[in-house]
Amino acid sequence: MMKILDQTEEASPAISYAGLIERIEILRSTLRWSSRLERADIDKLLRQATSLRDEVMQLSHKERFVQAAVAAEPQESADQSRGARRKALLERSFIFEGTFGDNPRLLESLEIAEKAAPTDLPVLIDGESGTGKELMAKVIHANGARADKPFVSVNCGAIPDNLLESELFGHRKGAFTGASNDRKGKFESAHTGTIFLDEIGELPLARQVKLLRVLEAHEIQRVGSDETIEVDTRIVAATNRNLRKLSEEGKFREDLFYRLSVIHVTLPPLRERRDEIPLLIAWFGDEAAGTLKRRPVRLTPRLRDFLSSYAYPGNIRELRNVMYRISCLASEMADVDHLPLDMRPAAPGSTTAAVDGAHASGEQPISVANLMSLSDAKRAASDDAEKAFLERGLREVSGTVAELARRIDMNRSHLQMLLKKHGLHSKDYRNRNVPAGKQNGSSEPGEEDGEA
Ligand SMILES: Nc1ncnc2c1ncn2[C@@H]1O[C@H](COP(=O)(O)OP(=O)(O)OP(=O)(O)O)[C@@H](O)[C@H]1O
Ligand SMILES: [Mg+2]
Repeated sequence: MMKILDQTEEASPAISYAGLIERIEILRSTLRWSSRLERADIDKLLRQATSLRDEVMQLSHKERFVQAAVAAEPQESADQSRGARRKALLERSFIFEGTFGDNPRLLESLEIAEKAAPTDLPVLIDGESGTGKELMAKVIHANGARADKPFVSVNCGAIPDNLLESELFGHRKGAFTGASNDRKGKFESAHTGTIFLDEIGELPLARQVKLLRVLEAHEIQRVGSDETIEVDTRIVAATNRNLRKLSEEGKFREDLFYRLSVIHVTLPPLRERRDEIPLLIAWFGDEAAGTLKRRPVRLTPRLRDFLSSYAYPGNIRELRNVMYRISCLASEMADVDHLPLDMRPAAPGSTTAAVDGAHASGEQPISVANLMSLSDAKRAASDDAEKAFLERGLREVSGTVAELARRIDMNRSHLQMLLKKHGLHSKDYRNRNVPAGKQNGSSEPGEEDGEA
């Protein structure tokens, strides 16, 4: 029986559906037909199952990636080398952990990660918020020899200064008030695995010395104890700050910076890899559809346009959240009104002046060199037109939302959302001569304007 497994382990490294299915079948029949399994056999089967799972994951990423790439950018010779680079990573059994994209700068980061992963060298990952630093740390862990050992994450910025040391290194019973038991720190928990020190730039100077010592001597002391404990932990750190600059300003120890950044990976912000936005939209749209068990949401050209030109201060996380949000809120087709309010740029002076479309007529200087402001201007004009239309409509129906919805053939809850978005209150448009009670009676109860 184990012989079969041994053979299958040596099967061609190239990933193919047929090969995978065959191996899954072998694994299944092994489990089904063997009356008794030794411990070693069970371990081996579990390892097999894990590696099959990884390959299935990779395959599905690969398939989807290729599909999406073909759909979005059919022909361009530069893309071939990108595609080829990503494919080469796949063929070397690189584990992406869901990292999507083939922008040259992202590929470069992945290729560095691939080389760094099997070593125990410290890695420093920097990049703006939401660029995928934690994901990259997981990629490094997953591609290294420690992959099946713990990955322990510590957010250095979220732990109060007085607890940080105990959190990282543990403490002895009675070391301080409240230390009612001996406690293991994160370094000990990550022994033989990887510790991910997130927001390392927030680490106070006084704590930085202690960290330096772990990096140098690979040992720690629990707070309140003299005993040194050896720890074998691979360190991956991340920050959205410029550590080099911080160290020049004396806010971060230079020696620690150099120790941590033996391998330095900088993740590009999304606005510098705009070429990937359409692919990411499709990717996260599918992902959200899967999670929400619905069909992938479709986007109006206006929304697509917005999403392609938006600046994404929150980077990939923001795009991902937006796709989940609109997938949840929109029924079939999503439009800009499904976006969170704070994502829509405030139209200049939009609260009142909007009605005559002044912005669109060029009163606001538009820098042509900056596509962002042009699309902002278009959006503002379109918002203004929308608001003017709704105001006129409300006047015509004397503030009866149900009637307006019927006349403009719009879903009532959608209309209510639009009114809310523009701060329009149907009651402001009601015919003053008609008592409020009677007015209510003219449409279905409780559904009139949803302003509650
Ligand atoms: N290239 C990518 N492909 C797919 N998903 C990605 C990619 N980059 C980031 N993500 C997703 O975006 C979200 C944010 O990523 P992550 O938490 O790694 O960012 P971060 O840089 O650590 O952010 P922060 O600085 O705010 O902690 C996660 O859901 C992650 O899975
Ligand atoms: Mg993070």
